[in-house]
This record gives sequence, structure tokens and C-alpha cells, in this order.
Amino acid sequence: MIANNLYKEKYRLQYHFSPEKNWSNDPNGMVYYQGEYHLFYQYNPADVVWGPMHWGHAVSKDLIHWDHLPVALEPDAELGMIFSGSAVVDKNDTTGFFDGGEGLVAVYTTHLEREEGPLQQQAIAYSKDSGRSWIKYEGNPVIRNYGVEDFRDPKVFWHQETEKWVMVIACYDRVRFYNSPDLKKWKYLSEFGSELGSHGGVWECPDLFKLPVEKKNKIEASNNEKEKWILQIGDQQGGEAGVSTQYFIGEFDGMRFKANEEKSYKVDFGQDLYALQSWSNMPDQRRIWLGWMNNIAYAEDIPTDGWKGMMSIPRELSLKETEAGLRLIQKPVKELKQLKEEFYHQENFLLKDKLSIPCDLQSYHLKAQLEISDESSFSLALHKKDEQQSLLNYDGKTNTFTLDLSKTGLVNFNHNYLKQKKINRISSSNNLIVDILVDQSSLEIFIDEGEISITDLVFPEEKSNEIELIANKSEIKINSFNVLKINSIW
Ligand code: FRU
Repeated sequence: MIANNLYKEKYRLQYHFSPEKNWSNDPNGMVYYQGEYHLFYQYNPADVVWGPMHWGHAVSKDLIHWDHLPVALEPDAELGMIFSGSAVVDKNDTTGFFDGGEGLVAVYTTHLEREEGPLQQQAIAYSKDSGRSWIKYEGNPVIRNYGVEDFRDPKVFWHQETEKWVMVIACYDRVRFYNSPDLKKWKYLSEFGSELGSHGGVWECPDLFKLPVEKKNKIEASNNEKEKWILQIGDQQGGEAGVSTQYFIGEFDGMRFKANEEKSYKVDFGQDLYALQSWSNMPDQRRIWLGWMNNIAYAEDIPTDGWKGMMSIPRELSLKETEAGLRLIQKPVKELKQLKEEFYHQENFLLKDKLSIPCDLQSYHLKAQLEISDESSFSLALHKKDEQQSLLNYDGKTNTFTLDLSKTGLVNFNHNYLKQKKINRISSSNNLIVDILVDQSSLEIFIDEGEISITDLVFPEEKSNEIELIANKSEIKINSFNVLKINSIW
């Protein structure tokens, strides 16, 4: 039961997950088990700023509605705080924790503050009751620190071909791979990345998984490579302002990751998506992740009161041959549909000057399909109330978007908050599809059905009452323009 003053606060997201109170950051321990999606998260139960990290816990049956559960893992005097990590289902009792049955095992980083500097090591804990209670393994740490200060955020999965558990873990400017028969004894295998990709700051929160390759032409796909491995890594200072998240596409044989190209690609073109983690043990081969919707560069200063930290919408992933080559595609999960109600709908019309839609919704999905050309230039104003607005501009000549948040509301709470950004579109198709999820203080923009995602926090001072679409030059044909109300989950 949620106390009735909660989830009504200014800026509180209505269809995204956020803990009831206090500070939260990275999603952790994401695993599907016995009909439940588990979402653990970095949590300070005592304050609205980062502090002694615990694992908070929530479960969902549909990825949309969440039940809060008590804190799952607490710091201890010997090994310290509970930093980020993952969780797996030990189906064959490789650990011996489950008397021949199965259960959940969490693999996480312990962080001990010491005079001579912090000590980060890897530990495990197990649960015999679907994650309701946890026992820390007496043999912790299972991987001792090997002499590097930043050694954290293990993501573990079962690698079928080698019949071993595999761990990818961030170590300062690279990731390392380890394997294990039983989640207790780990063997170092290889490392990746110190010379590749984005290195604005330390690397954190890696994830590694396989996706089928979707070719433009499905017939072609049967002759070519069918799947690729995606290695996702957060770069703590890789963005124009603070964090960024990148991914490499390549091969993984259970021992070594080999990238197809030296460069990495951005997961998101906004500034508030980080520490992404995908669920393990998913039914139907789906690969779904979500991220912490915030930015270390200003996370403690965002103007939310009593709670700080929220998750992005869960996004289903695929790998598609785009005009620029293979790219990761992110789409909000289809389960979100259950919350939607039609609010505004118009089809096949010419936008000559501007379309103004009275709209007092603060949580909605805007979906537009437009026919554009080199001549097209338009602006979409969201969060609009008098002078207040966020502007998404598109310019056909350069096929680029700019997102202008300078008039969205509170933007000066921290100098690192970025007010303007430019984003190149990948597709050159005349058919432009824009999906935007607005939820009080979050903005998730998906261009061309998930080829590009832009995730940002916004803090409008006033409730908006209008959506405006403006044709800046020539007229634009709009195939459809929809606004769907999204109901609250709280
Ligand atoms: C990323 C991170 C992780 C670490 C955790 C601590 O946001 O710095 O690398 O495990 O947060 O809360």
C-alpha cells in the first residue's frame, strides 16, 4: 500500500518506476523468475543524496505496475556497501545453495571505505524464496580486488556453449571477463576496451547479450550472420554534460569479446539515461532493459522533493540493419499499451502554419507520422504554457533534430544541465516517425521506431496546457498525429 501523499508530488513520474522516498540510482539484479520481473536498485534508505548503498527491491508481473518490497541487501561492517550487480536463476543448483532445486543468486560489488582508499570486490548472496529474503555467502568475496580502485558492477549470465557462468565487469578503463562453474570460484579470462570507444571517465555498469540480426530484406538474413553480441558500457563522463552510454557490436565466444569495429555507438542522445541493465532469464527470448534516468553530473541537485531517482521506461531491444549499418533499436515495451487512452487523433492533413492542441495532460504518448523532404522544417512544442516550452526542431536540409530545453522550466539547478543538443537522424526516408513519452519530468523521444532515442529530465514550473506543431517553411503532410493519455500506475 502506498501512502496517499506519495506519487502526487510535483515532478513525480506517473508511469515510470521510482522508489517511494529517498535516493536511488542504478537498476540492479534484474531477473525474471516465476512470473515476476525483479527490479533491485541502488538505494540510500536514509537520505535524498547518495550514501551507504543498499539494494532496494520491487517486483512486477507486467513490467509496468510495480510492488515495493523491503530492502534486499544491506551494507555490512566487513565488506562494506552493496554496489551495483546482477542476478541469475541457478536452475541446476550449480552453487549447491538450493538442495538440488533452484533459486536466485545475486552477484554484486562490495565497496568498503578505508583510510587508504576504497576497496571494491565481488560477492554473492542467494534467495530460496523468490527474492524475499537473502543470505550473503559465507565465502565472500568471491573475487578479490586485484589492485585497481574501480572494479565493479558484475553482470552475469549462463553461457550455454561453454557451460559456464560468465561475468563482465567494469575495471577503470576497460571491462574484464571471468567465468565460473558455480558462481563461487571465478577464473579471469580476458579484457576489452582500454583503447576503444568513449573514455571521458571511468567505465561502469556493463551488460553483454546476444541479439538476432534483422536485415532490411528478411530473405537475405538467412544466408548471413544471424546474431551478434552487444556489449553495453556506461562512461561516467563521456557525455557533453556528464554520463553517456555506449555499445559495441561484435562476437563473444565465452572467453573473449571481439568488436566488429573500433568505435562504439551511443545508446541514447539525451543526457539522462545511464547504468542500463537487461533482465536475465526472460521468457520468449525478449531482451528488455531500462536505465537510471538521471545524470551523475547533477543527480543530487534535481528539484524533486523527498525522492531522487527514477527509471526509464523498459525498452525492448533489437538489432537492425539501418542506413548507417547495424544499430541497436529501442522501443518502449508493448505492455505500456494497457495504460493508454486516446486523447487526440487526426489523420492525413496538411500542416500549413501551425497546429495547436489544447492538452492539459502531463503524462502522455505523442505519436506522429510526417511526410518530409529537404525543404521541411518544423518545431514541436511540448510542456507548453505561455512562454514555457521544450522545442524539438527538425531541419530537412541537414536531416537533424535540435532539442531546446532552455525554456522548459527549471534549468539552472546545476550548471551541468545541458539545455540544447543536436541529433543527426539515421534514416533518409521521407516518412518520419516520432514517438514521444512525456511523464511529468521525463522526456523520452524515439525517432523512426527506435533507431534513435533521446532521454532527458525536464522540470517545467507550470503545468502545460498545449501541444503545438509549427511548419517553419513549406507545408508538411501529416499522415497521422496522435496523443494518447497514459494513466498513472500509482
Ligand atoms: C554508477 C555507479 C556504479 C556503482 C554505483 C554506486 O552509477 O557509480 O558504478 O556500482 O553507481 O552507487
